[in-house]
Amino acid sequence: MTDVVSLLGQIEDTGRDPRGPGYVRPGYSRVERELRDWFIAEAESRGFDVEIDHNGITWAWVTAPGENAVVTGSHLDSVPGGGEFDGPLGVASALAAVDQLRESGRLARARRPLAIAVFPEEEGSRFGLSCLGSRLLTGAVGPKRALALTDERGDTFADVLRSHGLDPERVGRDDERLGRIGSFLELHVEQGVGLVRTDQPVAIGSSIIGHGRWHIRYEGEGNHAGTTPMAQRADPVVAAARIIGDIPTIVGRYDGAVATVGRTRVHPGGTNVIASAMDLWLDIRHPDDEVVQDVIEEIARRARDRASGAGYRGHDVQVTVDQESYSPTTHFGADLTQRLSALLPDAPLQASGAGHDAGILAAHVPSAMLYVRNPTGVSHAPEEACEDDDARAGVIALADALAMELGVEGDGEGGAGPGGAGRADGQGDEEHRA
Ligand code: GLV
Ligand code: MN
Ligand code: MN
Repeated sequence: MTDVVSLLGQIEDTGRDPRGPGYVRPGYSRVERELRDWFIAEAESRGFDVEIDHNGITWAWVTAPGENAVVTGSHLDSVPGGGEFDGPLGVASALAAVDQLRESGRLARARRPLAIAVFPEEEGSRFGLSCLGSRLLTGAVGPKRALALTDERGDTFADVLRSHGLDPERVGRDDERLGRIGSFLELHVEQGVGLVRTDQPVAIGSSIIGHGRWHIRYEGEGNHAGTTPMAQRADPVVAAARIIGDIPTIVGRYDGAVATVGRTRVHPGGTNVIASAMDLWLDIRHPDDEVVQDVIEEIARRARDRASGAGYRGHDVQVTVDQESYSPTTHFGADLTQRLSALLPDAPLQASGAGHDAGILAAHVPSAMLYVRNPTGVSHAPEEACEDDDARAGVIALADALAMELGVEGDGEGGAGPGGAGRADGQGDEEHRA
């Protein structure tokens, strides 16, 4: 059995940010592929059958594939400058939890198939659309739109898929694979301080709050920084800076709402060049979807108002606002969540401000989440943390939750016993494919 801490140790040097602490593990990149290869090697060394589906999702079948499967997993990509645990903790914990199930004999008695799934481009850091793999699987994004997405270099998602040996013609909703999932459980590092002041290492997800992304483009007039009088400029950077400065005040009027501009791009980008255009990307979140709508409408209105005075006669700065994605507030199914609460009675229920593949899958299959305490409460930054003992407690909780779903609650008494077959594929178990 491999400890979750040593599993994470095996990848701690993969994708380190060359600019400083933290990680850069973009979706569908060489680094994500290296991490995926690590996962595949770990899965195959345990005897699991591994397949990469048409959408680039990696499936490791712990048992023989089948209907009504229990699936656990997470992602391996990161935001730029991300932490060590957002994603990989869930993948490493899945491997470690399955090891525990096997060693305790519970896996050999499993009444349902079991698989681990690793979803690509969960962060949407490369192509702008979060949870790209699970959105494609479920049809939450169609292939036409997805294939046309471009990264910073201008490479289309279609091109990048090809370079990964995947066929763009075959991406998209996969009812057969989706239909096999009977329940999905994702373990994830906590991305806030909810557990920090408690004595609990693990929480259960209740909901994921609604969140959307918008692209705001400002277009002005490029010109010379030295020869253009201040009164004769249509500078998109000035207009964009005005709205960025206004956002905290606008959003502050909506209790519980958050909005962030975390990425900007100035065209063409020269110190002595008045920009011709500026792009900014806005992330807005609130549990009430109508509030998110109100916030973006107010920001868009204000952006246009504030830009109208940013140019000079006849050369106003133009603003366009495009929604790139929206995921409404998702409540995890009461049935699975209640059973998890009964299994882990001390674990608090938590709403999450962060998005997850489980939130996308929840619209189609019973899904649930476990969060593992993060002592700093910081995430999407190098300071993200997880104590070793908490990570181990998370694995025990996940193993017990999987056992509950597999219909083998208890400590494994009466099972095949520790150190059973390298592969527990349920052959001979009549109920396995029920
Ligand atoms: C992903 O972690 C997100 O919430 O954006
Ligand atoms: Mn994540
Ligand atoms: Mn994240």
